[in-house]
Amino acid sequence: MRIKLLVLISFFFTEVQAQSKTEYLKQFTGFPLGASVDGEVLLKNKVYRDLVAKEFNSLTTENHLKMYRVHPGQNRYDFAMGDSIVTFALRNKMRIHGHTLVWFDGMADWAKNFQGTKQDWESLIKNHIQTVVGHYKGKITSWDVVNEYLTQNDDSVRKFIVQEKLGDDYMAKCFRWAHEADPNALLIYNEYGMEWSESKLQGVIRIANDFKKRGIPLDGLGVQFHLKIFNSNERIAHVLKELSKTGLKIHISELDMMVNTTNSATLVYTDSLKKVQQEKYLFVFDAYRKYVPDNQKYGITFWNVGDKDTWLRPTYKIMEYPLLFDEDYNRKPVYNAILQSLK
Ligand code: G3I
Repeated sequence: MRIKLLVLISFFFTEVQAQSKTEYLKQFTGFPLGASVDGEVLLKNKVYRDLVAKEFNSLTTENHLKMYRVHPGQNRYDFAMGDSIVTFALRNKMRIHGHTLVWFDGMADWAKNFQGTKQDWESLIKNHIQTVVGHYKGKITSWDVVNEYLTQNDDSVRKFIVQEKLGDDYMAKCFRWAHEADPNALLIYNEYGMEWSESKLQGVIRIANDFKKRGIPLDGLGVQFHLKIFNSNERIAHVLKELSKTGLKIHISELDMMVNTTNSATLVYTDSLKKVQQEKYLFVFDAYRKYVPDNQKYGITFWNVGDKDTWLRPTYKIMEYPLLFDEDYNRKPVYNAILQSLK
């Protein structure tokens, strides 16, 4: 009996010790570590919820604050899912990053079909921005005010309905309107593709410097980094170094790493693919630490949590394994490799 009790007690202490020894990446980064989340999964799946609360200290709303979700009718806002993510994040003392106020691909259908004068269009976008930012004033720390202002491959301004109606300078107006609604919120311009286009990178820098000169309230630049294992380390480092020269906060805002270079629907995630992916992830973390000055590090945010949550699978109808957690939300070896490299 006594032996049984001793075994039980020692088992209990070993368990407690093992638990208290758990180390998290976010403890060693020295900057916020985030993930974008799906509000529905957060509500339904306790494993996802617990993991997010433990692993991250910053959350981005992946889809729920896009216009098509939060403002689905001209006179109708739907804050239910956004509120639920915000409540969860605040309860867990996490920073919240709002994504995104104006995005060509995030427009609601009613807005795409809206008929009106330039003035009517200005009111539409201003009201949208100020209603959403105002609703979360004091709760959401930062916003991707405009997402993907430039075209796919170069520094020309993307054409879409808001740009057509308000002109190329619509982005500056959006920043001013967001700032009016919450002067304390940090305002970010989020962009993709700089890892493959120098022209686009220089375009972003030109806009950042122009905004600074004109006193437009721009606080940071988001570099999405939806990377592929063949993206070159030199380019990744170059992007971070160049963006840092603006003096603005730099957010790696949508990090993931594609391993499927043949768009296969049945890709096998081999050890060699895992290894190349791990090396590239290590490089990204190392480059961010080295090349972005501490006061400009806004953090690294993954684009969702586990491999089964990735946008890449449904969007491209391919198999992908781009994140740090597997299908069952276990840490993948790449997680531990980054952890070791940071210690
Ligand atoms: O929620 C509905 C579900 O009810 C329905 O059954 C299903 C059928 O298609 O669609 C679901 O909605 C999808 C939603 O993701 C949630 O999964 C939309 O169709 C789909 O278009 C939407 O895709 C999102 C995409 O942006 C477009 O908004 C991705 O999740 C999201 O990861 C992606 O994120 C973008 C960033 O905002 C900007 N940078 C690029 C990045 C990747 O495209």
